[in-house]
Amino acid sequence: MPSYYYKGQFRHEPSAFDPRSIMMTARRLMTSRKGIIYLFGGFFFCWFYVLVRMTFSSTTSPYVLPPLPPIEYSKMWPPNLDTLLCRPKIYVYPDPPAIQAVYERVPPVNTPYISERILLEQLRDPHSSAYKNYVTLEPEEADFFYIPFLGARYLNHCWFILGEKGDCDVDEQYVLPMMQHIQQKLPYWNRTFGQDHLMAHPMDRTSHYYQSREVMENATFLTTVGDLRPVSSSIVGSRRYKNIVIPSATALLDLVKADPLQYLTHEGHPRHKKRDVFVLFGGRYSDVQPDDVYSAGIRSLFSSLEKQPGYVIGPGWETDKYMKLLSRARYGLAPMGHTLDTTRIWEYIAFGVVPVIIADGIIEPFEDDFDWKSISVRIRRKDAHKIDAILRAIPDEEYQAKRRRVWEYGRRVLLTRDSWHLIVRDLCRRGRLEGKRTIDRNNHANLTLPYVSIHT
Ligand SMILES: *[C@@H]1O[C@H](CO)[C@@H](O)[C@H](O)[C@H]1NC(C)=O
Ligand SMILES: *[C@@H]1O[C@H](CO)[C@@H](O)[C@H](O)[C@H]1NC(C)=O
Ligand SMILES: *[C@@H]1O[C@H](CO)[C@@H](O)[C@H](O)[C@H]1NC(C)=O
Repeated sequence: MPSYYYKGQFRHEPSAFDPRSIMMTARRLMTSRKGIIYLFGGFFFCWFYVLVRMTFSSTTSPYVLPPLPPIEYSKMWPPNLDTLLCRPKIYVYPDPPAIQAVYERVPPVNTPYISERILLEQLRDPHSSAYKNYVTLEPEEADFFYIPFLGARYLNHCWFILGEKGDCDVDEQYVLPMMQHIQQKLPYWNRTFGQDHLMAHPMDRTSHYYQSREVMENATFLTTVGDLRPVSSSIVGSRRYKNIVIPSATALLDLVKADPLQYLTHEGHPRHKKRDVFVLFGGRYSDVQPDDVYSAGIRSLFSSLEKQPGYVIGPGWETDKYMKLLSRARYGLAPMGHTLDTTRIWEYIAFGVVPVIIADGIIEPFEDDFDWKSISVRIRRKDAHKIDAILRAIPDEEYQAKRRRVWEYGRRVLLTRDSWHLIVRDLCRRGRLEGKRTIDRNNHANLTLPYVSIHT
């Protein structure tokens, strides 16, 4: 009870907390009519307030339930990539004699379109785990046939070394000699009309560089472009259920053969600094207008983002500088360009950068088996102007989880890591395999053996 000193004596100050005065007030209220009205009014107000809060409340703290118990490995998605779905045998055709003669005139060219060469080399290298796991030298026991088609090598040599334009007579000189040898001299294509044949088409327009593409259309293509947009099949030859989307090669990773561990620790952290670049992008953007067809105008937004704190956006950097920036970046922008795919995404993944994919309708490689959502951020074109707000709203905990996933899991997709293993999983998921001798899902004794990484 508060008291104060007044003119030499203590006096008691009656307070609201004085139980006697409260009792008196209550009694006065209960007996007067006005008091009762106030009382009921008060109750009604409280009740109404609670009702409104319960209906419109956005500030109630979230109610977190206890987690569900774990389930069996075999019933989970994403699946355990270390077990096989099936173990098909792949026969790799030798280069037809006419094609060997072409290669003498057409040496390999160093362009980013060499995923066709990398995949073929893996199948032909007896030390690679792709070879050890899947290759057979006996065509009669093969489930799949690999056509050693290197169309990009022929065209890139013509375009970039000889400086010619157009089709470079590729059909007469390369496609037809290759396909005619396989279709007319050997019996395997005709047995299924090419349904069990595979070949790589690593450039943007897949088989659409070739007038005579009809002869190969029955084969399954390994392509670097996956596109769900309805127009895409006529423009880039994207065939959702016929092609298998693979990662593309990149100049930095596959030509320069940059080693991320030069800049990163084994845990994927920068060796020297912290990841202090919030968002990184190197490439074409400064001349792009919002209504351009190129990148659907998305890259026009980057000219304004460029000035924001934490953003490093530029036309590109020399190798060493770019590697340093990659090792310092948290997020990397991967907007569409001429097509939906961008080779940057593979560089981001190799350096532990979380890719921000802005390409509506893109099909990333191995989506049936690989959990892209956990390693990337996808932003729709219609939300692309809010990139900064979207990325800054991601809690640090969530960013860290994605970064760790990129490093520990995402890197398995890279072309020189487990690509063949993942291609084979896609093949196993296709129909019409049950007749195949070595694909017997129920009776294959060795499917649960942990497979050995494809890395050679
Ligand atoms: C496969 O079929 C085509 C078209 O019917 C035919 O021209 C070709 O000779 C056949 N190939 C073989 C090896 O019989
Ligand atoms: C492609 O398959 C169809 C049947 O599905 C067949 O009629 C056609 O001849 C095949 N083309 C080639 C080049 O084998
Ligand atoms: C399974 O793999 C083991 C070890 O590679 C091998 O010894 C065994 O013969 C295989 N079994 C079958 C049924 O292929």
